[in-house]
Amino acid sequence: MEKDNRANFGSKLGIILATAGSAVGLGNIWRFPYMTGDNGGAAFIFVYIMCVFLLGIPCIVNEFIIGRYSASNTARAYRKLSNGTPWAIIGYIGVLTGFLVTSYYSVVSGWCLQYIYASAAGHLKGDPQFFASYFADFEKDPIKPVIWAVVILVITHLIIIRGVKEGIEKASKALMPALFVILIILVVSACMLPNAWEGIEFLFKPDFSKVSKDLFLGALGQAFFSLSIGMGCLCTFASYFTKDTDLTNSAVQISVIDTVVAILAGLLIFPAAFSIGVSPDSGPSLIFITLPNVFEQAFSSVPIIGYIVAISFYILLSLAALTSLISLHEVSTAFLHEEMNINRKTAATIVTVICSVIAALCSLSLSDWDAISIGGKPLFDILDYLTGQILLPVGGFLTCLFVGWYLPKKIVRDEYTNYGSMRGKFFNIYLSCVKYLCPTLILLIFLHQIGVI
Ligand code: PHE
Repeated sequence: MEKDNRANFGSKLGIILATAGSAVGLGNIWRFPYMTGDNGGAAFIFVYIMCVFLLGIPCIVNEFIIGRYSASNTARAYRKLSNGTPWAIIGYIGVLTGFLVTSYYSVVSGWCLQYIYASAAGHLKGDPQFFASYFADFEKDPIKPVIWAVVILVITHLIIIRGVKEGIEKASKALMPALFVILIILVVSACMLPNAWEGIEFLFKPDFSKVSKDLFLGALGQAFFSLSIGMGCLCTFASYFTKDTDLTNSAVQISVIDTVVAILAGLLIFPAAFSIGVSPDSGPSLIFITLPNVFEQAFSSVPIIGYIVAISFYILLSLAALTSLISLHEVSTAFLHEEMNINRKTAATIVTVICSVIAALCSLSLSDWDAISIGGKPLFDILDYLTGQILLPVGGFLTCLFVGWYLPKKIVRDEYTNYGSMRGKFFNIYLSCVKYLCPTLILLIFLHQIGVI
């Protein structure tokens, strides 16, 4: 175990909320509900929960062990533990992935801010066609989305420069409860709509005939992304954990929070959509085209409620995005701060400026300036593909091999049991998952994502 004079989170609650804040993000709200609805409802939820337990929790614990043991940024953490062997590269992959994701995630987060503004200003009114063209025009605008991406990066920056305890922890303690409260209020409003029951039934009625290879691999991939595995975020946050943090318990709590939020998002989206007979899709078109229309129509008898629901929904999305961005930004900030020996503020400023530039390029690549594309694909899509489909699984896979096969078992066990102060009941199960099961599953996700199986 390393020195104690490094910044730490001040409380267990802070640890859980900050790390759950990283996990709870756009993935929970715009992808999980749709995947559930489209893949056999409760059957998918069941497979997903299995994936969280078998793959998610062991991979989270891996990153926690590496981060807390080395008490360093992700690159240095792996470097310290790899003793001059090429394993050190995994840490750099994590930092690079985190950095690249920060850039394009901030673009989508910026869209959420624009939609808070647009719904508050009463601009989101019209027929379904209107919502589609409103989003298309906004996305193609060369200026507005760039400004919003920079705004959310600057908000993230202002939190990061206050440090771990005063910045990240305090912000998470305020933002996460706000997120839960808004989510619950929205779920209750949606479930009170006429025909809401059909949406609830659609979400939860198990259809086991839909359980297929694709569903299984889709659930695995979703669990991976949703739990923020493989981007250096968990490792970096764990480097601020206290010595008495129960790593497995924390991993379980974070996974439960993340899954509950995802299911609640389904309980918001499906009842609302079914109440007006719209079938929800996924991704940006769900969030920025289908849902504004759904909110407007579903609450048309009391428009003020529709108005408040729409604003609250985009605030909810922005909070989820912001807490994830904080963890992503911190990966690069901690890296520059410790590796270049510059102070935290300067490191954060460099990250914010470079990410703003890449975010601007990403955003512009979706506008009519198709100059910012490679092989006909916009930079935005390339970064999404490169990080989500390639770097993430590669990083996660190598981490499993590193912890399962390379690290001395004593280090792994010591961290797992807090140096013998806990029994570590599940240690052997955890280690077997990390050695055999998780690498196999990740390899399968990877092959599936690149279209080989
Ligand atoms: N887990 C986040 C989501 O569900 C995405 C994310 C991945 C955030 C990795 C931070 C790091 O949207």
